[in-house]
Amino acid sequence: MKINKIVCIGAGYVGGPTMAVIADRCPHVDVTVIDMNEVRIAAWNSSSLPVYEPGLAEVVQRARGRNLKFLNHIDGVQALKEADAIFISVNTPTKTHGPGAGKASDLSYVESCARFIAQHVSGQKIVIEKSTMPVRTAELIKEILTHNNSQAKFDILSNPEFLAEGTAIRDLEKPERVLIGGENSEAVQALVDIYAQWVDPRLIITTGLWSAELSKLAANAFLAQRVSSINSMSAVCEKTGANIDEVAKVIGTDSRVGPKFLKASVGFGGSCFKKDVLSLIYICESYALPEVAHYWQQVIEINEWQKKRFAQKIIESVPPHGTVAILGLAFKKETNDFRESASIDIVQHLLQAGLKVISYDPKVNFTEFAKGLQKAENLKSASSIAVAINGVHAVAILTEWPEFASINWQEFAPQLKNCNLIYDGRNIVPVDAPLPPKLNFQRIGVSG
Ligand code: UDX
Ligand code: ADP
Repeated sequence: MKINKIVCIGAGYVGGPTMAVIADRCPHVDVTVIDMNEVRIAAWNSSSLPVYEPGLAEVVQRARGRNLKFLNHIDGVQALKEADAIFISVNTPTKTHGPGAGKASDLSYVESCARFIAQHVSGQKIVIEKSTMPVRTAELIKEILTHNNSQAKFDILSNPEFLAEGTAIRDLEKPERVLIGGENSEAVQALVDIYAQWVDPRLIITTGLWSAELSKLAANAFLAQRVSSINSMSAVCEKTGANIDEVAKVIGTDSRVGPKFLKASVGFGGSCFKKDVLSLIYICESYALPEVAHYWQQVIEINEWQKKRFAQKIIESVPPHGTVAILGLAFKKETNDFRESASIDIVQHLLQAGLKVISYDPKVNFTEFAKGLQKAENLKSASSIAVAINGVHAVAILTEWPEFASINWQEFAPQLKNCNLIYDGRNIVPVDAPLPPKLNFQRIGVSG
């Protein structure tokens, strides 16, 4: 088995960058990315890509028009018919209704992909789960494929993506590992051969299907757990006078723990952590493992609590109907993504408390962000830091954009004359940064 032609269904934050790197690194392989969202496809074909990722534009520039195409899913049918391998990289959000609502992953997009594939293809196809899926989803995909198409032969692989947004290109070009789960060793090898074009084969881990599916959920759950662990400790620090950055440094120098993912924050966000931990919880409940479900539930509870207590501190520090500047809406730096960002809940808490909010983020689309918020009439967008903080009663840093770390606060003293509190929700402002007089400065996990 050899993969010469690839189709990826889903041109989102995962599908777009992943396929761009595969096309870039495998110039002899034809890669077509298809999506039912025509606006998104048009953006992938333009100079203004729908995803902001450092280095992405250059990779797309090199491969697009050579062996990388972006098509709407109707125009993509021919490519689908010809493909040797089809990646499914669509969204799997948390279900909002029906059995498992609020926890289970909504697999309707995955199911519709499987039906779309079954409707159009014949011959032998490798179908690859790229989106994070609950364990045993491959079974469901296979069922839909074979039930709707008895002619073609399908091999299902699980190849979950470990890229983190903001570092997606680096993570794809130099992954710590690539995971491929499957039953048919020839199909597994065909996909190994693709990655081996640029990844050291020793970093390509092959496992059974269910292990691959569960490993992705487990990996994200462990990472989210670390953030909740350090955030829970940040509250203890604030009560006891200990300093969370010092504590994190000490914990992280133990090589058994390691230094990464120990940065206290306003709470984790992003499209993966909450959704995947909830999905894991639902799986545990489904398999009658309530103790395990309860254990992981606490990771979510601490995260929700961290956001709430951060918002509460701001609310208590400003006058009724006062104004708060929010610096950063993205769920982390170097991305325009604000899915599940802590900023959503924090802004919502402030608005609900009757405060006015003025926000600034260098990359996030404000109109999209404001959609779905209640009392959004009291939320405004600013074009710069200077405009955002002018005349406000409090400033909160919610994303660790480097430009927020280097703000010269003293220079802004006139704009900050009504301001009681600067709350650094990312602990990025240097401890020795000169501040205007009489301004309270607070860091996460540091009392005072
Ligand atoms: C995550 C996983 O890291 C990645 O492997 C997986 O493929 C997808 O999910 P992502 O959500 O893009 O990636 O970003 P990540 O860097 O993991 O950050 C998630 C959230 O945790 C962010 O809001 C981030 O600010 C927060 N975080 C992370 C902390 O608050 N403290 C930390 O120490 C690390
Ligand atoms: P992720 O972060 O996992 O990449 P996104 O929401 O950014 O998630 O991207 C998923 C993409 O999948 C969206 O652009 C959506 O339009 C697309 N999509 C979902 N279902 C289908 C489908 N059945 N056919 C084609 N595209 C789909």
